[in-house]
Amino acid sequence: MTVRPERLRSHQWYGSDIASGLRSFSHRARTRQLGYLPEEHLGKPVIAVLNTWSDINPCHMHLRERAQAVKRGVWQAGGFPLEFPVSTLSETFQKPTPMLYRNMLSMETEELLRSYPVDGAVLLGGCDKSTPALLMGAASVDLPAVFVPAGPMLPGHWRDEVLGSGTDMWKYWDERRAGLIGDAELAELENGLARSPGTCMTMGTASTLTAAAETLGVTMPGASSIPAVDSGHERMAAASGRRVVELVLADLRLSKLLTREAYEDAVATVLALGGSTNAVIHLIAMAGRSGIRLTLDDFDRIARTVPVLADLRPGGRYLMEDFHFAGGLPAFLTRLTDVLHLDRPTVAHTTLREQLDGALVHNPRVIREREDALAPEGGVAVLRGNLCPDGAVIKHIAAEPRLLEHTGPAMVFDDYRTMQRTINDPALALTPDHVLVLRNAGPKGGPGMPEYGMLPIPDYLLKQGVRDMVRLSDARMSGTSYGACVLHIAPESYVGGPLALVRTGDSITLDVEARSLHLHVEEAQLARRGAEWTAPPERYGRGYGALYNEQITQADTGCDFAFLARPGEVPDPYVG
Ligand code: FES
Ligand code: MG
Repeated sequence: MTVRPERLRSHQWYGSDIASGLRSFSHRARTRQLGYLPEEHLGKPVIAVLNTWSDINPCHMHLRERAQAVKRGVWQAGGFPLEFPVSTLSETFQKPTPMLYRNMLSMETEELLRSYPVDGAVLLGGCDKSTPALLMGAASVDLPAVFVPAGPMLPGHWRDEVLGSGTDMWKYWDERRAGLIGDAELAELENGLARSPGTCMTMGTASTLTAAAETLGVTMPGASSIPAVDSGHERMAAASGRRVVELVLADLRLSKLLTREAYEDAVATVLALGGSTNAVIHLIAMAGRSGIRLTLDDFDRIARTVPVLADLRPGGRYLMEDFHFAGGLPAFLTRLTDVLHLDRPTVAHTTLREQLDGALVHNPRVIREREDALAPEGGVAVLRGNLCPDGAVIKHIAAEPRLLEHTGPAMVFDDYRTMQRTINDPALALTPDHVLVLRNAGPKGGPGMPEYGMLPIPDYLLKQGVRDMVRLSDARMSGTSYGACVLHIAPESYVGGPLALVRTGDSITLDVEARSLHLHVEEAQLARRGAEWTAPPERYGRGYGALYNEQITQADTGCDFAFLARPGEVPDPYVG
């Protein structure tokens, strides 16, 4: 099917002849003001190029040039590209956490696409929350769209060591605290941890979510692992621009791609990659915008059907460039064909099966055979119990195995600052068996569920060689972090979830095999503590934070805003 020019959404704005009215006369006059001749744009699909480039975002610093390549492709295919700068979510710099702003970027994406003369979109992003934000917004407005992942940065280097951004930052910071390296070494590390544009080059949140996007079928094949500075990245951007014009002409909207099967495949993929726990929240939220109810139980169920096959840091040894040259995601997905839904469409092909045809694994050390899996089951387990009635997650493959079944006394910290101030105080007399508990770090309490979930090991235990302990919180954890950290405890403590009722000294059992997290306190006793509990004061008196606080949902339902997640009609604007 080819959509005729007068059937394009943008035609309502531009018209094509004198008779089409005052408004289109005005819109055409203003397009002349922009410097375009009628023959350059009239009757052509208008493609919005949504760009999250910013001077403050090192992961997206190359996206200004990439947008030019996208536009090149749009022109080549007979479209009319228009670039829209949108909010940047820099995982490194934005505080308290870009998670506070994921839904804001999703709203901006949705409303820009809806309110302007747009027929299709190319979405440029990749730093952690920008991928779900852009896709949530685009799915809500449901136009044809292609996602261009920013691409991983080059491998880090220090002396003769290869470094993973994030992962090795934590590691060497701990070494510094343990007195094993000095300031000079730290200064050298600053130069080598992140040495090019692009997203974190481990299987952190960024790589996990861009791989999910590729599995969902909304990127060009292989796009998610192309290094940001590789010339192939520019070629992929141009191809995305060409492709989106074809999608508009074929009226292939996101809703045709973003089906339950597609989301289940994305879940299987992130689990088999040993990807970030953040994907649990984001995929649930993304699916919600596609009208699909994805649950924690879906993750746990699918986790039991896929092994971990990517030997990538933080869980494994290699980095994204190695993954790319091992064949990238198309090769990786050939290992999962028994669980994937191969007959669904993607932006590039009629079926996923066709897309994977010919893909080969070139390095079985990076992309493992099924018989040689890193773990027999997916990397994330969903826990239940009296401490987390609505669930919690643990990335058990990134934890020391001895802690996966563990009972120990709780040491409770009421908030992150208190924890930071007191954790190294030897008077707390923490032992490796203690269970560190952090509260008020959830969606409302954080606010924004900051990545506080990898609570630091006390200095004095580090010096004894302790590198992992059981840690519990309603926070998230960076995709590049590791350890026996139970995360996303729901409901969160700030709204009175059971986590709010734990006291120092209470005994807690984590049992990953049994998928359980249990607080050994009698129910009656917990009820008494609950009756004494008082809600903390609201954090925001006004502004975006107040809206956030009012609308944010809990981790198990994806932390979307209630008014964005619910079904309902939104009229297209009247262009009269
Ligand atoms: Fe941007 Fe890691 S900080 S992807
Ligand atoms: Mg991160």
